[in-house]
Amino acid sequence: MKKIAILGATGSIGRQALDIIERSPERFCVTALTAHKSSDTLISLAKKFGVKYIGLTGTSGDAEFEKKVPKGVKVGFGIQGLIESCREGDPDVVLIAVVGIAGLPPLIECLDRGTDIALANKEALVCGGHIVKQKQALSRAEIFPVDSELCAVYQCLKGVDTTGLRRVILTASGGPFLRWSKEEIQNATVEQALRHPNWRMGKKITVDCATYMNKGLEIIETKWLFDITPEMIDVVVHRQSIIHSMIEYSDGAVIAQMGPTDMRQPIQYAFGHPERLGSVVGHLDFAALGTLTFEAPDTDKFPCLRHAMDALREGGAIPVIMNAANEAAVELFLEKKISFGDIEKSIAFAMNKFAHLKANTLLDIYNTDTQVKKYVYNNF
Ligand SMILES: NC(=O)c1ccc[n+]([C@@H]2O[C@H](COP(=O)([O-])OP(=O)(O)OC[C@H]3O[C@@H](n4cnc5c(N)ncnc54)[C@H](OP(=O)(O)O)[C@@H]3O)[C@@H](O)[C@H]2O)c1
Repeated sequence: MKKIAILGATGSIGRQALDIIERSPERFCVTALTAHKSSDTLISLAKKFGVKYIGLTGTSGDAEFEKKVPKGVKVGFGIQGLIESCREGDPDVVLIAVVGIAGLPPLIECLDRGTDIALANKEALVCGGHIVKQKQALSRAEIFPVDSELCAVYQCLKGVDTTGLRRVILTASGGPFLRWSKEEIQNATVEQALRHPNWRMGKKITVDCATYMNKGLEIIETKWLFDITPEMIDVVVHRQSIIHSMIEYSDGAVIAQMGPTDMRQPIQYAFGHPERLGSVVGHLDFAALGTLTFEAPDTDKFPCLRHAMDALREGGAIPVIMNAANEAAVELFLEKKISFGDIEKSIAFAMNKFAHLKANTLLDIYNTDTQVKKYVYNNF
């Protein structure tokens, strides 16, 4: 029986993870669950899965909430709620599926404790990749990427000789605005940005897909997860999202990982590892699929990808600044306070204005993140 803690249990990944667990009660159980503000859903999930610890990060809980907490269930608030969720009940795997830089502290905690991590959260590695690498070198914990593209690269690279590896090719769906003009994209509405053609996900990542920042975050994650240099990371637009990513060798051989467009596949892979469990997402019917298409990403129409490529090459605090500006700008966009085009503008502006900031230590990273976000909230 694998004991699993789910951080971000009320979200898109969290709920799909709980679906996997519910289908295999003989294999998996839940030790802890967290949410940000969805306290009622969190409590009902805690009851359903018999969980003894819950974490609530976005509110400190009131008397009304206290009354609803089932007897014998411990509650932690704020960042402590995330950290304690990595400890309580001694989980074998912690799924980090919270949004934003909030994923970094639990990732560090798991590495320090030697607890395996199923990592859906992208922002933690983007901001703290160098510290994560140092910790990982001293830890027995393994990081299983849950992002479909990174899980694909993980599977392609697993157990193979990487001598002669030429490049990693991440696929991108192209998002909702692939065929839109540059001018139309600038003024896209929230509703339009949230209409992803292939995936149903949380709002922040869906907007990131529309700007291509999602792919930008993934190229930086790829560097840290697989020790790949920036020149060896490529992106290709693959509209159907059937090939989740590929690796290419110097002799021209390409290995691709394919599968249905359902996040439960990578989640199940991370939970079941090293075993391959029965599919809950069906199987590909290639004849029915017909054609798979590929095209180059247009970084003129989607400059966020270009900013991320710059951040990947420059390193230091630049990825932290880019990520912080993006997190703040996406929030403002979702609140309809800025335009879609302003997301990219605020990122470009912040990467220039705050280039002098540091990200050497965890404290530097959090300070830089706070400073950049504050600026974006107040000036855009
Ligand atoms: N969805 C996907 O298919 C997918 C695929 C690959 C990678 N990812 C990555 O996985 C992460 C989660 O994505 P998602 O789509 O599942 O997001 P989501 O649906 O918005 O869910 C986010 C979860 O985290 C909680 N949360 C929100 N803000 C938080 C904060 N500041 N601190 C701690 N917890 C917070 C939410 O609680 P409340 O419900 O209370 O707000 C919810 O439980 C993101 O980093 C995303 O990039 C997602």
